[in-house]
Amino acid sequence: MVAQNTPHVLIVGAGGGIGQALVQHYLAQDWRVTAWSRQAAQTNHARLHWQQVDSYEDLTGVSSQLHETPLHGVISTLGVLHTEHFGPEKNLAMVNATQLQESFYVNAVLPMLVLQQLVQVLPKQQPCFWLQLSAMVGSITDNRLGGWYSYRASKAALNMLLKNAAIELARSHKHLVVAAVHPGTTDTALSAPFQRNIPANKLYRSAQTAERIASVAANLTTANSGKLLHWDGTELPY
Ligand SMILES: NC(=O)c1ccc[n+]([C@@H]2O[C@H](COP(=O)([O-])OP(=O)(O)OC[C@H]3O[C@@H](n4cnc5c(N)ncnc54)[C@H](OP(=O)(O)O)[C@@H]3O)[C@@H](O)[C@H]2O)c1
Repeated sequence: MVAQNTPHVLIVGAGGGIGQALVQHYLAQDWRVTAWSRQAAQTNHARLHWQQVDSYEDLTGVSSQLHETPLHGVISTLGVLHTEHFGPEKNLAMVNATQLQESFYVNAVLPMLVLQQLVQVLPKQQPCFWLQLSAMVGSITDNRLGGWYSYRASKAALNMLLKNAAIELARSHKHLVVAAVHPGTTDTALSAPFQRNIPANKLYRSAQTAERIASVAANLTTANSGKLLHWDGTELPY
């Protein structure tokens, strides 16, 4: 039996490297965890409710169950850098419509559709956070190297969409914080092909990243809403 006042977090994209680590982190901190993933449950726990989703476009079946236990926060890890069909573009010649569309779809469109479908279950009177993992390479100001066209541009689009939502939701949800967070280069399948030139002390374990993201979440104020944050909680330029 889980105590009624146990804090409750929803992890969207719980099957990925950082998603799994976030699930483990919040369980270890005695939170109630709802986990959404296209993948089957990877772990069992009395405080974990793992729900396999067919598509993040239609969450009707799973989101209705959230009415039963109020949420204290949501962290979405949804994102893609490479698939079996494409990797990040090194130059303009590699840019193509398929990769741009798929990157925009997973990195920007899906997180917005998830937020849109969740608005009705986000509390209006209590503090709540909605964090989406973004990436520093999506910062237009910080782009000094070029390349990675689809990933950079789709994360920049994500940041703008989140800012829009933060402005709008501040009117109806006075204690809600909607923000993007850069997790730092983390040892997962997403970064695996690109780790060769990363110094060992700049490549973080997923458990370390989860702890940092949870710390950012715990220290959010409404002044952070609409911002792109570094894993240490400082603000990054768009
Ligand atoms: N790892 C890094 O170094 C790093 C650095 C900067 C930013 N980030 C960002 O951090 C987030 C998590 O990254 P990660 O390293 O944990 O990556 P990951 O292991 O590949 O996980 C990515 C998640 O995105 C979802 N996803 C991927 N492709 C999808 C698709 N086509 N349709 C629907 N959902 C899809 C998956 O959800 P399911 O659970 O449903 O499979 C998966 O959990 C991403 O947004 C990434 O851009 C990561």
